[in-house]
Amino acid sequence: MISVIAIDGPAGAGKSTVSRRLAQALDWQYVDTGAMYRVVGFIAVGAGVDFSDVDGLRKVCDNLDLRFEEEGDGVRTIANGRDVSHAIRSAEAGQLASKVSVVPIVRERLVALQRAMGEKRPTVMEGRDIGTVVFPDAQLKIFLRATVEERARRRCLDLEHRGEAADRAEIEAQIAERDARDSGRTHSPLRPAEDALIVDTTHEGIDEIVEKILTLAAQRQVT
Ligand code: DC
Repeated sequence: MISVIAIDGPAGAGKSTVSRRLAQALDWQYVDTGAMYRVVGFIAVGAGVDFSDVDGLRKVCDNLDLRFEEEGDGVRTIANGRDVSHAIRSAEAGQLASKVSVVPIVRERLVALQRAMGEKRPTVMEGRDIGTVVFPDAQLKIFLRATVEERARRRCLDLEHRGEAADRAEIEAQIAERDARDSGRTHSPLRPAEDALIVDTTHEGIDEIVEKILTLAAQRQVT
């Protein structure tokens, strides 16, 4: 099996930064599965497909031409020929993703796509269910977490960088709502795999966390 490092955890726990940095350090592929759910939610809404319309959502998934293009320190998301990198990062797109991700057909299609991506080259894959469902045999599974307050603080900073208004109390409520939906759903709820290493990022810097995971990967000869 090709090497996979699974990075799971709730919104704002630091998954994207940590995963991107790991992939860069190892020269591996980086796959952001949250972006995939965001794209499906965004495209479905744009096409007027209701989230209760299973056939409509199936078509959105089956017709999806999705590419991630690495660019400098970041990754561009190209969906059906259009650069949606910016559009899918809004707080609203996050809520749409959380809602569309409870639909079983969407999970089925995206999990298949994620497995196909991870089977091509060594991969750092981040999401909610990578260690539990997508790659239960991943060589290294990390579950990142942080307090809701700290995650809300990080989201506010992100939104401010994007030039969007950010109300801390509102963001905290949205994160709590998203956590409840992501953890409470029947299919692939957000939870650490039994063999995942749980890392709390509330007080630890990104550099330390990345170093810790790289050391673990080397010890387990994942690299
Ligand atoms: O990581 P993110 O904020 O971009 O994820 C957006 C939503 O997508 C999240 O609220 C739940 C869903 N998601 C999921 O259900 N499974 C994944 N592997 C990744 C994301």
